[in-house]
Amino acid sequence: LCDEMGIPTAAYRRCLTAEAAIAYVRERGAPIVVKADGLAAGKGVVVAETVEAAERFIHDCFEGAFGQSGASVVVEDFLEGEEASLFALCDGKSFVLLESAQDHKRAFDGDTGPNTGGMGAYSPAPVMTPAMLERARREIIEPTVRGMAARGTPFTGVLYAGVMVAADGPRLIEFNVRFGDPEAQVLLPRLKSDLLDLLVATARGELAGVEPEWHEAAALTVVLATRGYPVGVVETGSEIRGLDRAEGEDIVVFQAATRREGDRLLANGGRVLDVTALGG
Ligand code: GLY
Repeated sequence: LCDEMGIPTAAYRRCLTAEAAIAYVRERGAPIVVKADGLAAGKGVVVAETVEAAERFIHDCFEGAFGQSGASVVVEDFLEGEEASLFALCDGKSFVLLESAQDHKRAFDGDTGPNTGGMGAYSPAPVMTPAMLERARREIIEPTVRGMAARGTPFTGVLYAGVMVAADGPRLIEFNVRFGDPEAQVLLPRLKSDLLDLLVATARGELAGVEPEWHEAAALTVVLATRGYPVGVVETGSEIRGLDRAEGEDIVVFQAATRREGDRLLANGGRVLDVTALGG
């Protein structure tokens, strides 16, 4: 679709064997990105600093580290820039651009530790300036919606574009067809319009002319995770206290992996809850 519609993305090749993938990696050099060509809970990708690291990951994929998802791999050029997430609602013909966000993927402070599903996020993404947003709309979202419709496979739903913002413009890294986690926890509190009305208009093909309203305030969320997340044994069962003190007009607590035991609230998984605050 990107080739057909001229959507800016990284040069890539999809490879069905380890030999083909390794040959292509050697041709392109490092740094280079290798992705298992299927769903892998966000873990099936390596940004390899060296050709050897890329080759190790390719062997892992074809030796079954990601099951069927690693039966083919995509090798992509490394893109310089800062990554942001951009959301749109699409009704098959029209779309409504929502706001941008950035999530923080490393487990620990100072951008260190293993990658996670996201330890926090903020919206809007400062790197998505109005000019960059307009380019992403024109160069990525609009041709995608138009291209899908022209193919006879119109897309209806939430389009989540992972975008690398480089000095010379935005480049598409990936699409998801859902809201982000934890990006939704900063996007949706900023939305002044009724989400349900927007989703109904999306489902009914009535998005043309719709313009959602947003709160002026920015939003920031921090994820509380259990010890051991994202690698190792996650210690569930610890008690969560003080949530009543966090609730307020500009603060929302989103619970994800929690359970009640009598009148106690307990952690029940890796990413337990998000605390979102709105402000200047
Ligand atoms: N935070 C990344 C994602 O939802 O895929």
